[in-house]
Amino acid sequence: MSATLERPAPLPKTGPRPDETRSLRECGGLEITDLDLSRPLPSDRRESLLAAFRAHPVLVFRDQALTKEQQYDFTLNFGDIESQHVNRLIDAERYAAVHTVCNLDDQGNPSEVLRERGNYFWHSDKSYHAVPSLLTMLHAVELPPVGGETQFANMAMGYASLPEATKTRIAGLRVIHSWEASRINCGGRPATEEQKRERPPVEHPLVRTHPDTGMKTLYMGNHASHIVGMGLDEGRALLAELRDHATQAAFVYSHRWRQGDLVLWDNRCLLHRALAHEGMGVHRRVLHRTVVKGSVPY
Ligand SMILES: [Fe+2]
Repeated sequence: MSATLERPAPLPKTGPRPDETRSLRECGGLEITDLDLSRPLPSDRRESLLAAFRAHPVLVFRDQALTKEQQYDFTLNFGDIESQHVNRLIDAERYAAVHTVCNLDDQGNPSEVLRERGNYFWHSDKSYHAVPSLLTMLHAVELPPVGGETQFANMAMGYASLPEATKTRIAGLRVIHSWEASRINCGGRPATEEQKRERPPVEHPLVRTHPDTGMKTLYMGNHASHIVGMGLDEGRALLAELRDHATQAAFVYSHRWRQGDLVLWDNRCLLHRALAHEGMGVHRRVLHRTVVKGSVPY
């Protein structure tokens, strides 16, 4: 392994800072304070929770203390849970339904060497799959004193605010997403031949329709490679232009994590990214993650 891979370039400081962005509610989200997620939900509370998720693409719950088993059970309210590739040195299995997102090295110590560099670039989870993720849930376990926010960009707002000429230009365009492109875009460790076989390129609409709300949203991000039928450079420039438009501060919520937070979000209409925290090599950031299977974008 080269020294470059051991010490990758620092993350680019692009995009809005947390002090520039909007409130949860301004970006369509909602904080729910009166639910204990460690217990099974009565059917009426479950229905109201699902309705809240249809209306609000980010839900924030405070002061929770869920075991992995309890987080698994709560996630099931929203659909089938996806298995994840995990770090076998941290989680017990190669694949796990509840896995750990962290800045720890193989010895369990905080590290500036990012294991999942792509998490720090705007993306929609698993858009490199033909059937990408519907919902992702993170539960804070250990947090650094400063930084480490997760940002969410509302892509329905981003689309709605485009000039009509741009909406006309991008209508019907399709985008290739791939794990290989994702690695290149974030400057991470290149995809292996096995990974390329496991995760071949897939094609999705650039403008997708949310299956619950009917709203149109931009769908691209770090896993997007290029636009079908367009020159590589031209397509990538257009994708970057749309990403920069849709991730401007006016459409972004920055979640400042508190101990016990559980945040879930809709990957069908949001891009998200983590921000590096101060003292990555000193302070631990550990969250438990679950992902719900989605449907084919249209
Ligand atoms: Fe993610």
